[in-house]
Amino acid sequence: MEQYVITGGKPLRGVVEIYGAKNAALALIPAAILTEEPVIISNLPDVSDINVMLEAVAQLGAKVERLNRHKVRITGAGVHSHQINDDYISKIRASYYLLGALLGRFHEAEVAMPGGCVIGARPIDQHIKGFEALGAKVKISEGNIYAKAEQLKGNHIYFDVVSVGATINIMLAAVMAEGNTIIENPAKEPHVVDLANMLNSMGARIRGAGTDVIRIKGVPKLHKTEYMVIPDQIEAGTFMFAAAITKGEITVANVIPKHLESITAKLVDIGCEVEEYDEAVIVRGCERLSATQVKTLPYPGFPTDMQPQISVALALASGISTVTESIFENRFKYVTELARMGAKIKVENNTAIISGVKGLFGAKLNAPDLRAGAALVLAALSAEGTSTINDINYIQRGYEAFDEKLRALGGDIRKVDTDKK
Ligand code: EPZ
Repeated sequence: MEQYVITGGKPLRGVVEIYGAKNAALALIPAAILTEEPVIISNLPDVSDINVMLEAVAQLGAKVERLNRHKVRITGAGVHSHQINDDYISKIRASYYLLGALLGRFHEAEVAMPGGCVIGARPIDQHIKGFEALGAKVKISEGNIYAKAEQLKGNHIYFDVVSVGATINIMLAAVMAEGNTIIENPAKEPHVVDLANMLNSMGARIRGAGTDVIRIKGVPKLHKTEYMVIPDQIEAGTFMFAAAITKGEITVANVIPKHLESITAKLVDIGCEVEEYDEAVIVRGCERLSATQVKTLPYPGFPTDMQPQISVALALASGISTVTESIFENRFKYVTELARMGAKIKVENNTAIISGVKGLFGAKLNAPDLRAGAALVLAALSAEGTSTINDINYIQRGYEAFDEKLRALGGDIRKVDTDKK
């Protein structure tokens, strides 16, 4: 088993380069098999969720060639199956994007139902509602979702909840449907826009991604493209908060500052200085952060994927803060871990009430999920003494070379294989 061993107390300083967005790339890879022609995707993060998705499209028959660590060529001509229901694929939530892509191309798809998730129940009713509106019959049986349509026809779809996954899935299914599709109340996340941009570069006609209404004019066929994934907004935000939490100064490079506005605003609110450049932000921490109130919301609101990181910062702030989670019902699991480091946090319903302390101390910790795991790493880097963090496979699902990047900023963090000790 791998774990991180971290000795805290050093301010992190220096420059960190942000890689491509995991959650964008997870949508772009299935989009690549909508055409028979080759699609080259660059700036792909080398993380385990992405590698699982590449393995899945290869298993469906696509030719997947790694041109280098961050660049892949996917050729969908050989896709011979519309069915993927192995256990491994249900472990990544984004496996359901294969439904949208296979339904869009073959009008038929069977994919293993994504498993239960540590951060909440995560229903898929909006995905199903969208597929049905396009003319598909959807059935769930024996742990698989099966969708089939004689003909996919554009329709007017109104989402009852703002869902990144459902928005992306319906875009994938509707792009080659007959006629026009209008999606109202879609998610506006940067990765929704990124998918629209890649599909448009393949010949799709999608307008309005990133706004309140997405309009799709179905096209009969898509073609080859070369596309670069946008920088990862959440990886960037995590390093921005690393500067705040360790009282350091970090230049977070290769970012789109516009995507980071809600994160920047909160950092300024709690006492940090943030300088914005065209493709970088510099975050300067301060001696003592100040308390604030924050509520997670769909983009452009403060992201749920940054909720654990801001909670760690507020655990060290002067005064009482509140953090309200409005997207997922079970995203405060890390609070008991932080309590072991001396944090004072009480959770009432979906709100964490945080009484800031002057400092945390090292402890033995378990990463409960991806973002909470990253937040615990930041807490350990600020703490007095040494911490160990187990279950770092969660962190490696979404952060490439996290420990290496933190070491380059001066963090005392080592990855240890406990089986080889
Ligand atoms: C995406 O999950 C991200 N995953 C998550 O990233 C992120 O936390 C989340 O969006 C919110 O930003 C990927 O992009 C692969 P949703 P997704 O559908 O698409 C409810 C990370 O750490 N809902 O926008 O699954 C749902 O329960 C992760 O990288 C329904 O009720 O999230 C939730 O309360 C974890 N019915 C809300 O909508 C549905 O059919 C938003 O979920 C779909 C969703």
